[in-house]
Amino acid sequence: MRIVLGIESSCDETAAALVSEDRVILAQAIASQEAEHAPYGGVVPEIAARAHAERLTPLVEKVLADAGKTLADCDAIAATAGPGLIGGVMVGLVTAKALAMASDTPLLAINHLEGHALSPRLADAALEYPYALLLVSGGHCQILRVEGVGKYQRLATTIDDALGEAFDKTAKILGLGYPGGPAVERLALQGDPKAVPLPRPLVGSGEPHFSFAGLKSAVLRAHESGLHKDADIAASFQQAALDCIVDRTRIALRTMDDVTALVVAGGVAANQVIRTGLEQLAGEFALPFTAPPLPLCTDNAAMIAWAGVERLAAGFPADPLDLKARPRWPL
Ligand code: KG4
Ligand code: ZN
Repeated sequence: MRIVLGIESSCDETAAALVSEDRVILAQAIASQEAEHAPYGGVVPEIAARAHAERLTPLVEKVLADAGKTLADCDAIAATAGPGLIGGVMVGLVTAKALAMASDTPLLAINHLEGHALSPRLADAALEYPYALLLVSGGHCQILRVEGVGKYQRLATTIDDALGEAFDKTAKILGLGYPGGPAVERLALQGDPKAVPLPRPLVGSGEPHFSFAGLKSAVLRAHESGLHKDADIAASFQQAALDCIVDRTRIALRTMDDVTALVVAGGVAANQVIRTGLEQLAGEFALPFTAPPLPLCTDNAAMIAWAGVERLAAGFPADPLDLKARPRWPL
């Protein structure tokens, strides 16, 4: 039974996890940097890198101890090698390289987006390739046809902001602080999703791409007008965002008639309204709908370890120890 140690440090979560091939998370630990970044209203890259450097090694020691394992028990060390904030990615990758070298264990450099893309298979053993994936996080908004490990066909991307970014900017406009997505979702519970007229950029267009910049500007204007309650703006924004992704995903699904399921992953997949809307869309196509449990949606190391498990099982070779961290790395 293979065991992989996973390391994640591409944004503001420092995380380590041990995952086995039979989909068991043997141990995991996450140190969130919310408190450090909150005063600035967003992630400050230099603060993030320093916090990762301070916390990562103790987290790795903790997950090994919690699982009663040593590095000698690990079949590989999988670390996010990009895309992300480069200082943080370098901390994680350098740590993984040092551990790999010291213990003579193979290193696997994982694309963070691959971690999100394969995370639903960690939670759902029945999920088979190929599946349609809506990947919605703070930095990305894509529709992918996931055909296998390392085989991703991108059907759509955003021409401006990512969906999580739109949530975060809306939160900032409404003074909800950072991180924004969960705060907007909470406030929206008290609001009327039809109260504020907001645009649905690109809805109706034949290509399944996304755009959220115009929606964000409209949220700003609605707020500045003083005509609307914040809860109504939050609820109307969330509804407009949902309408956009449902319409765009519907267009993409029409071109994917052989997929086994509609899957959503990434931080925004933690949003209950979005999960419910996408589940209905899957129903239109008579497809099963899968979304990982909430802790696997936002950044975590179990998904990085799992991507490592999948890479080993698919026969991918270890990565060289001189591999460079990549701030940009399309899937
Ligand atoms: O995947 P993730 O943890 O980090 C990136 O790889 O970007 O995603 C973070 C994003 C943030 O923009 C955050 O506001 C959003 O996911 N998010 C949510 C929710 N939880 C996190 N957006 C909407 N509703 C949520 N419940
Ligand atoms: Zn992420």
